[in-house]
Amino acid sequence: MLHNTKILFIITGSIAAYKALDVIRELRRQGATVRCILTQGGAEFITELSVSALSGERVYTELFSVTDEAEMGHIKLAREHDLALVAPASADFIAKIASGRADDLATAVLLATDKPILIAPAMNPQMWQNPATLDNIETLERRGITVIPPASGEMACGEVGAGRFPEISDIISFVEDELKAAQPLRGLTALITVGATREPLDPVRFISNHSSGKQGIAIATALVQAGAAVTLIHGHVDVPLPDGVVAIHASTAQAMLEACLSALPVDIAICTAAVADWQMQNIPTEKQKKTIDTLTLELVQTPDILGALCTDEQRPRLVIGFAAETSNALENASAKKQRKGCDWLVLNEISLENPVFGDDCNTVTVLLEQEVQAWGMLPKQTIAQKLLALIEKEIL
Ligand code: C5P
Repeated sequence: MLHNTKILFIITGSIAAYKALDVIRELRRQGATVRCILTQGGAEFITELSVSALSGERVYTELFSVTDEAEMGHIKLAREHDLALVAPASADFIAKIASGRADDLATAVLLATDKPILIAPAMNPQMWQNPATLDNIETLERRGITVIPPASGEMACGEVGAGRFPEISDIISFVEDELKAAQPLRGLTALITVGATREPLDPVRFISNHSSGKQGIAIATALVQAGAAVTLIHGHVDVPLPDGVVAIHASTAQAMLEACLSALPVDIAICTAAVADWQMQNIPTEKQKKTIDTLTLELVQTPDILGALCTDEQRPRLVIGFAAETSNALENASAKKQRKGCDWLVLNEISLENPVFGDDCNTVTVLLEQEVQAWGMLPKQTIAQKLLALIEKEIL
């Protein structure tokens, strides 16, 4: 569950700070990367050196550090992880984040993050039960922050009650639950083909199409955000590739087929690529000279990648095809779904007036196993989110 996750770990000023080191060790043992922020209070209890040794990373402490900002700005630090965990969270730190302060690195990062936040409060029982603390906790929970309840027992100060740092196993299972909720496809693998293939006519020319790769890249981005491990096999694309994928360039249909088959087994395959339908039977090794008026090309069909994935003995659990149709769209799409053997087919109707290629919007009809859903014209990102919701429903 924790394999390949990035956790931002904030240690604040509580006597339980030394226990954070064991949590860091366990998170890393389970495959997580742990990047730490040590607050000024936290540094009164444990050293930057021990946190760095246990996390295997440099430790961040300063908000107004020129070198840190140049290397890893606080906004970047706030975004480059899957989840932020504050353990232990002192009463003072809880009060600060409840009031929205941002006067040190840890509070600024928590205010700037768009990722789930978990806190593990640890303090004296009277401090924990103080109405001020309870109000702050209520405020944080109302804002969607998950509070790991402190354990009860004897405290470092000798008093007995609730406020002890939770067991490591409890903290880990809260982290796992949070990740599962935020990234439901975590632990699943997906392959997606994107963009246009280019079939060479000779060493300098090729046949291709207008596909920009925008729709496929929007879907790949949504899959990564949902926690899937994504292999993106792409031909020519007009937009930047998303972060967090294993990207493989495959220029021709044949190369794309080989890349897809070697990416198996995967749980989900989505073929959005506009694969050229024909390729040269024999590609001349020399550039064709302009010495004749009319050139006749002998083309043969390219391999059908979607079809091959559907019949492979390692067939993914869910295979989704795309189809661009100019006439008899629904009828053709439904026949194509049957012929190729995919589970779902996303149809877009295109015409010279509405070419879709390169556009930010798409008009699609989704042919599911037993149902046809017409989604109308939507931004490609929205289509990606709606498809993701269907995938989650189907596969989980
Ligand atoms: O037959 P058509 O090209 O319309 O089928 C579209 C679907 O099949 C798309 O999902 C596309 O990525 C896939 N395809 C393929 N290999 C081909 C042709 C299309 O995987 N050679």
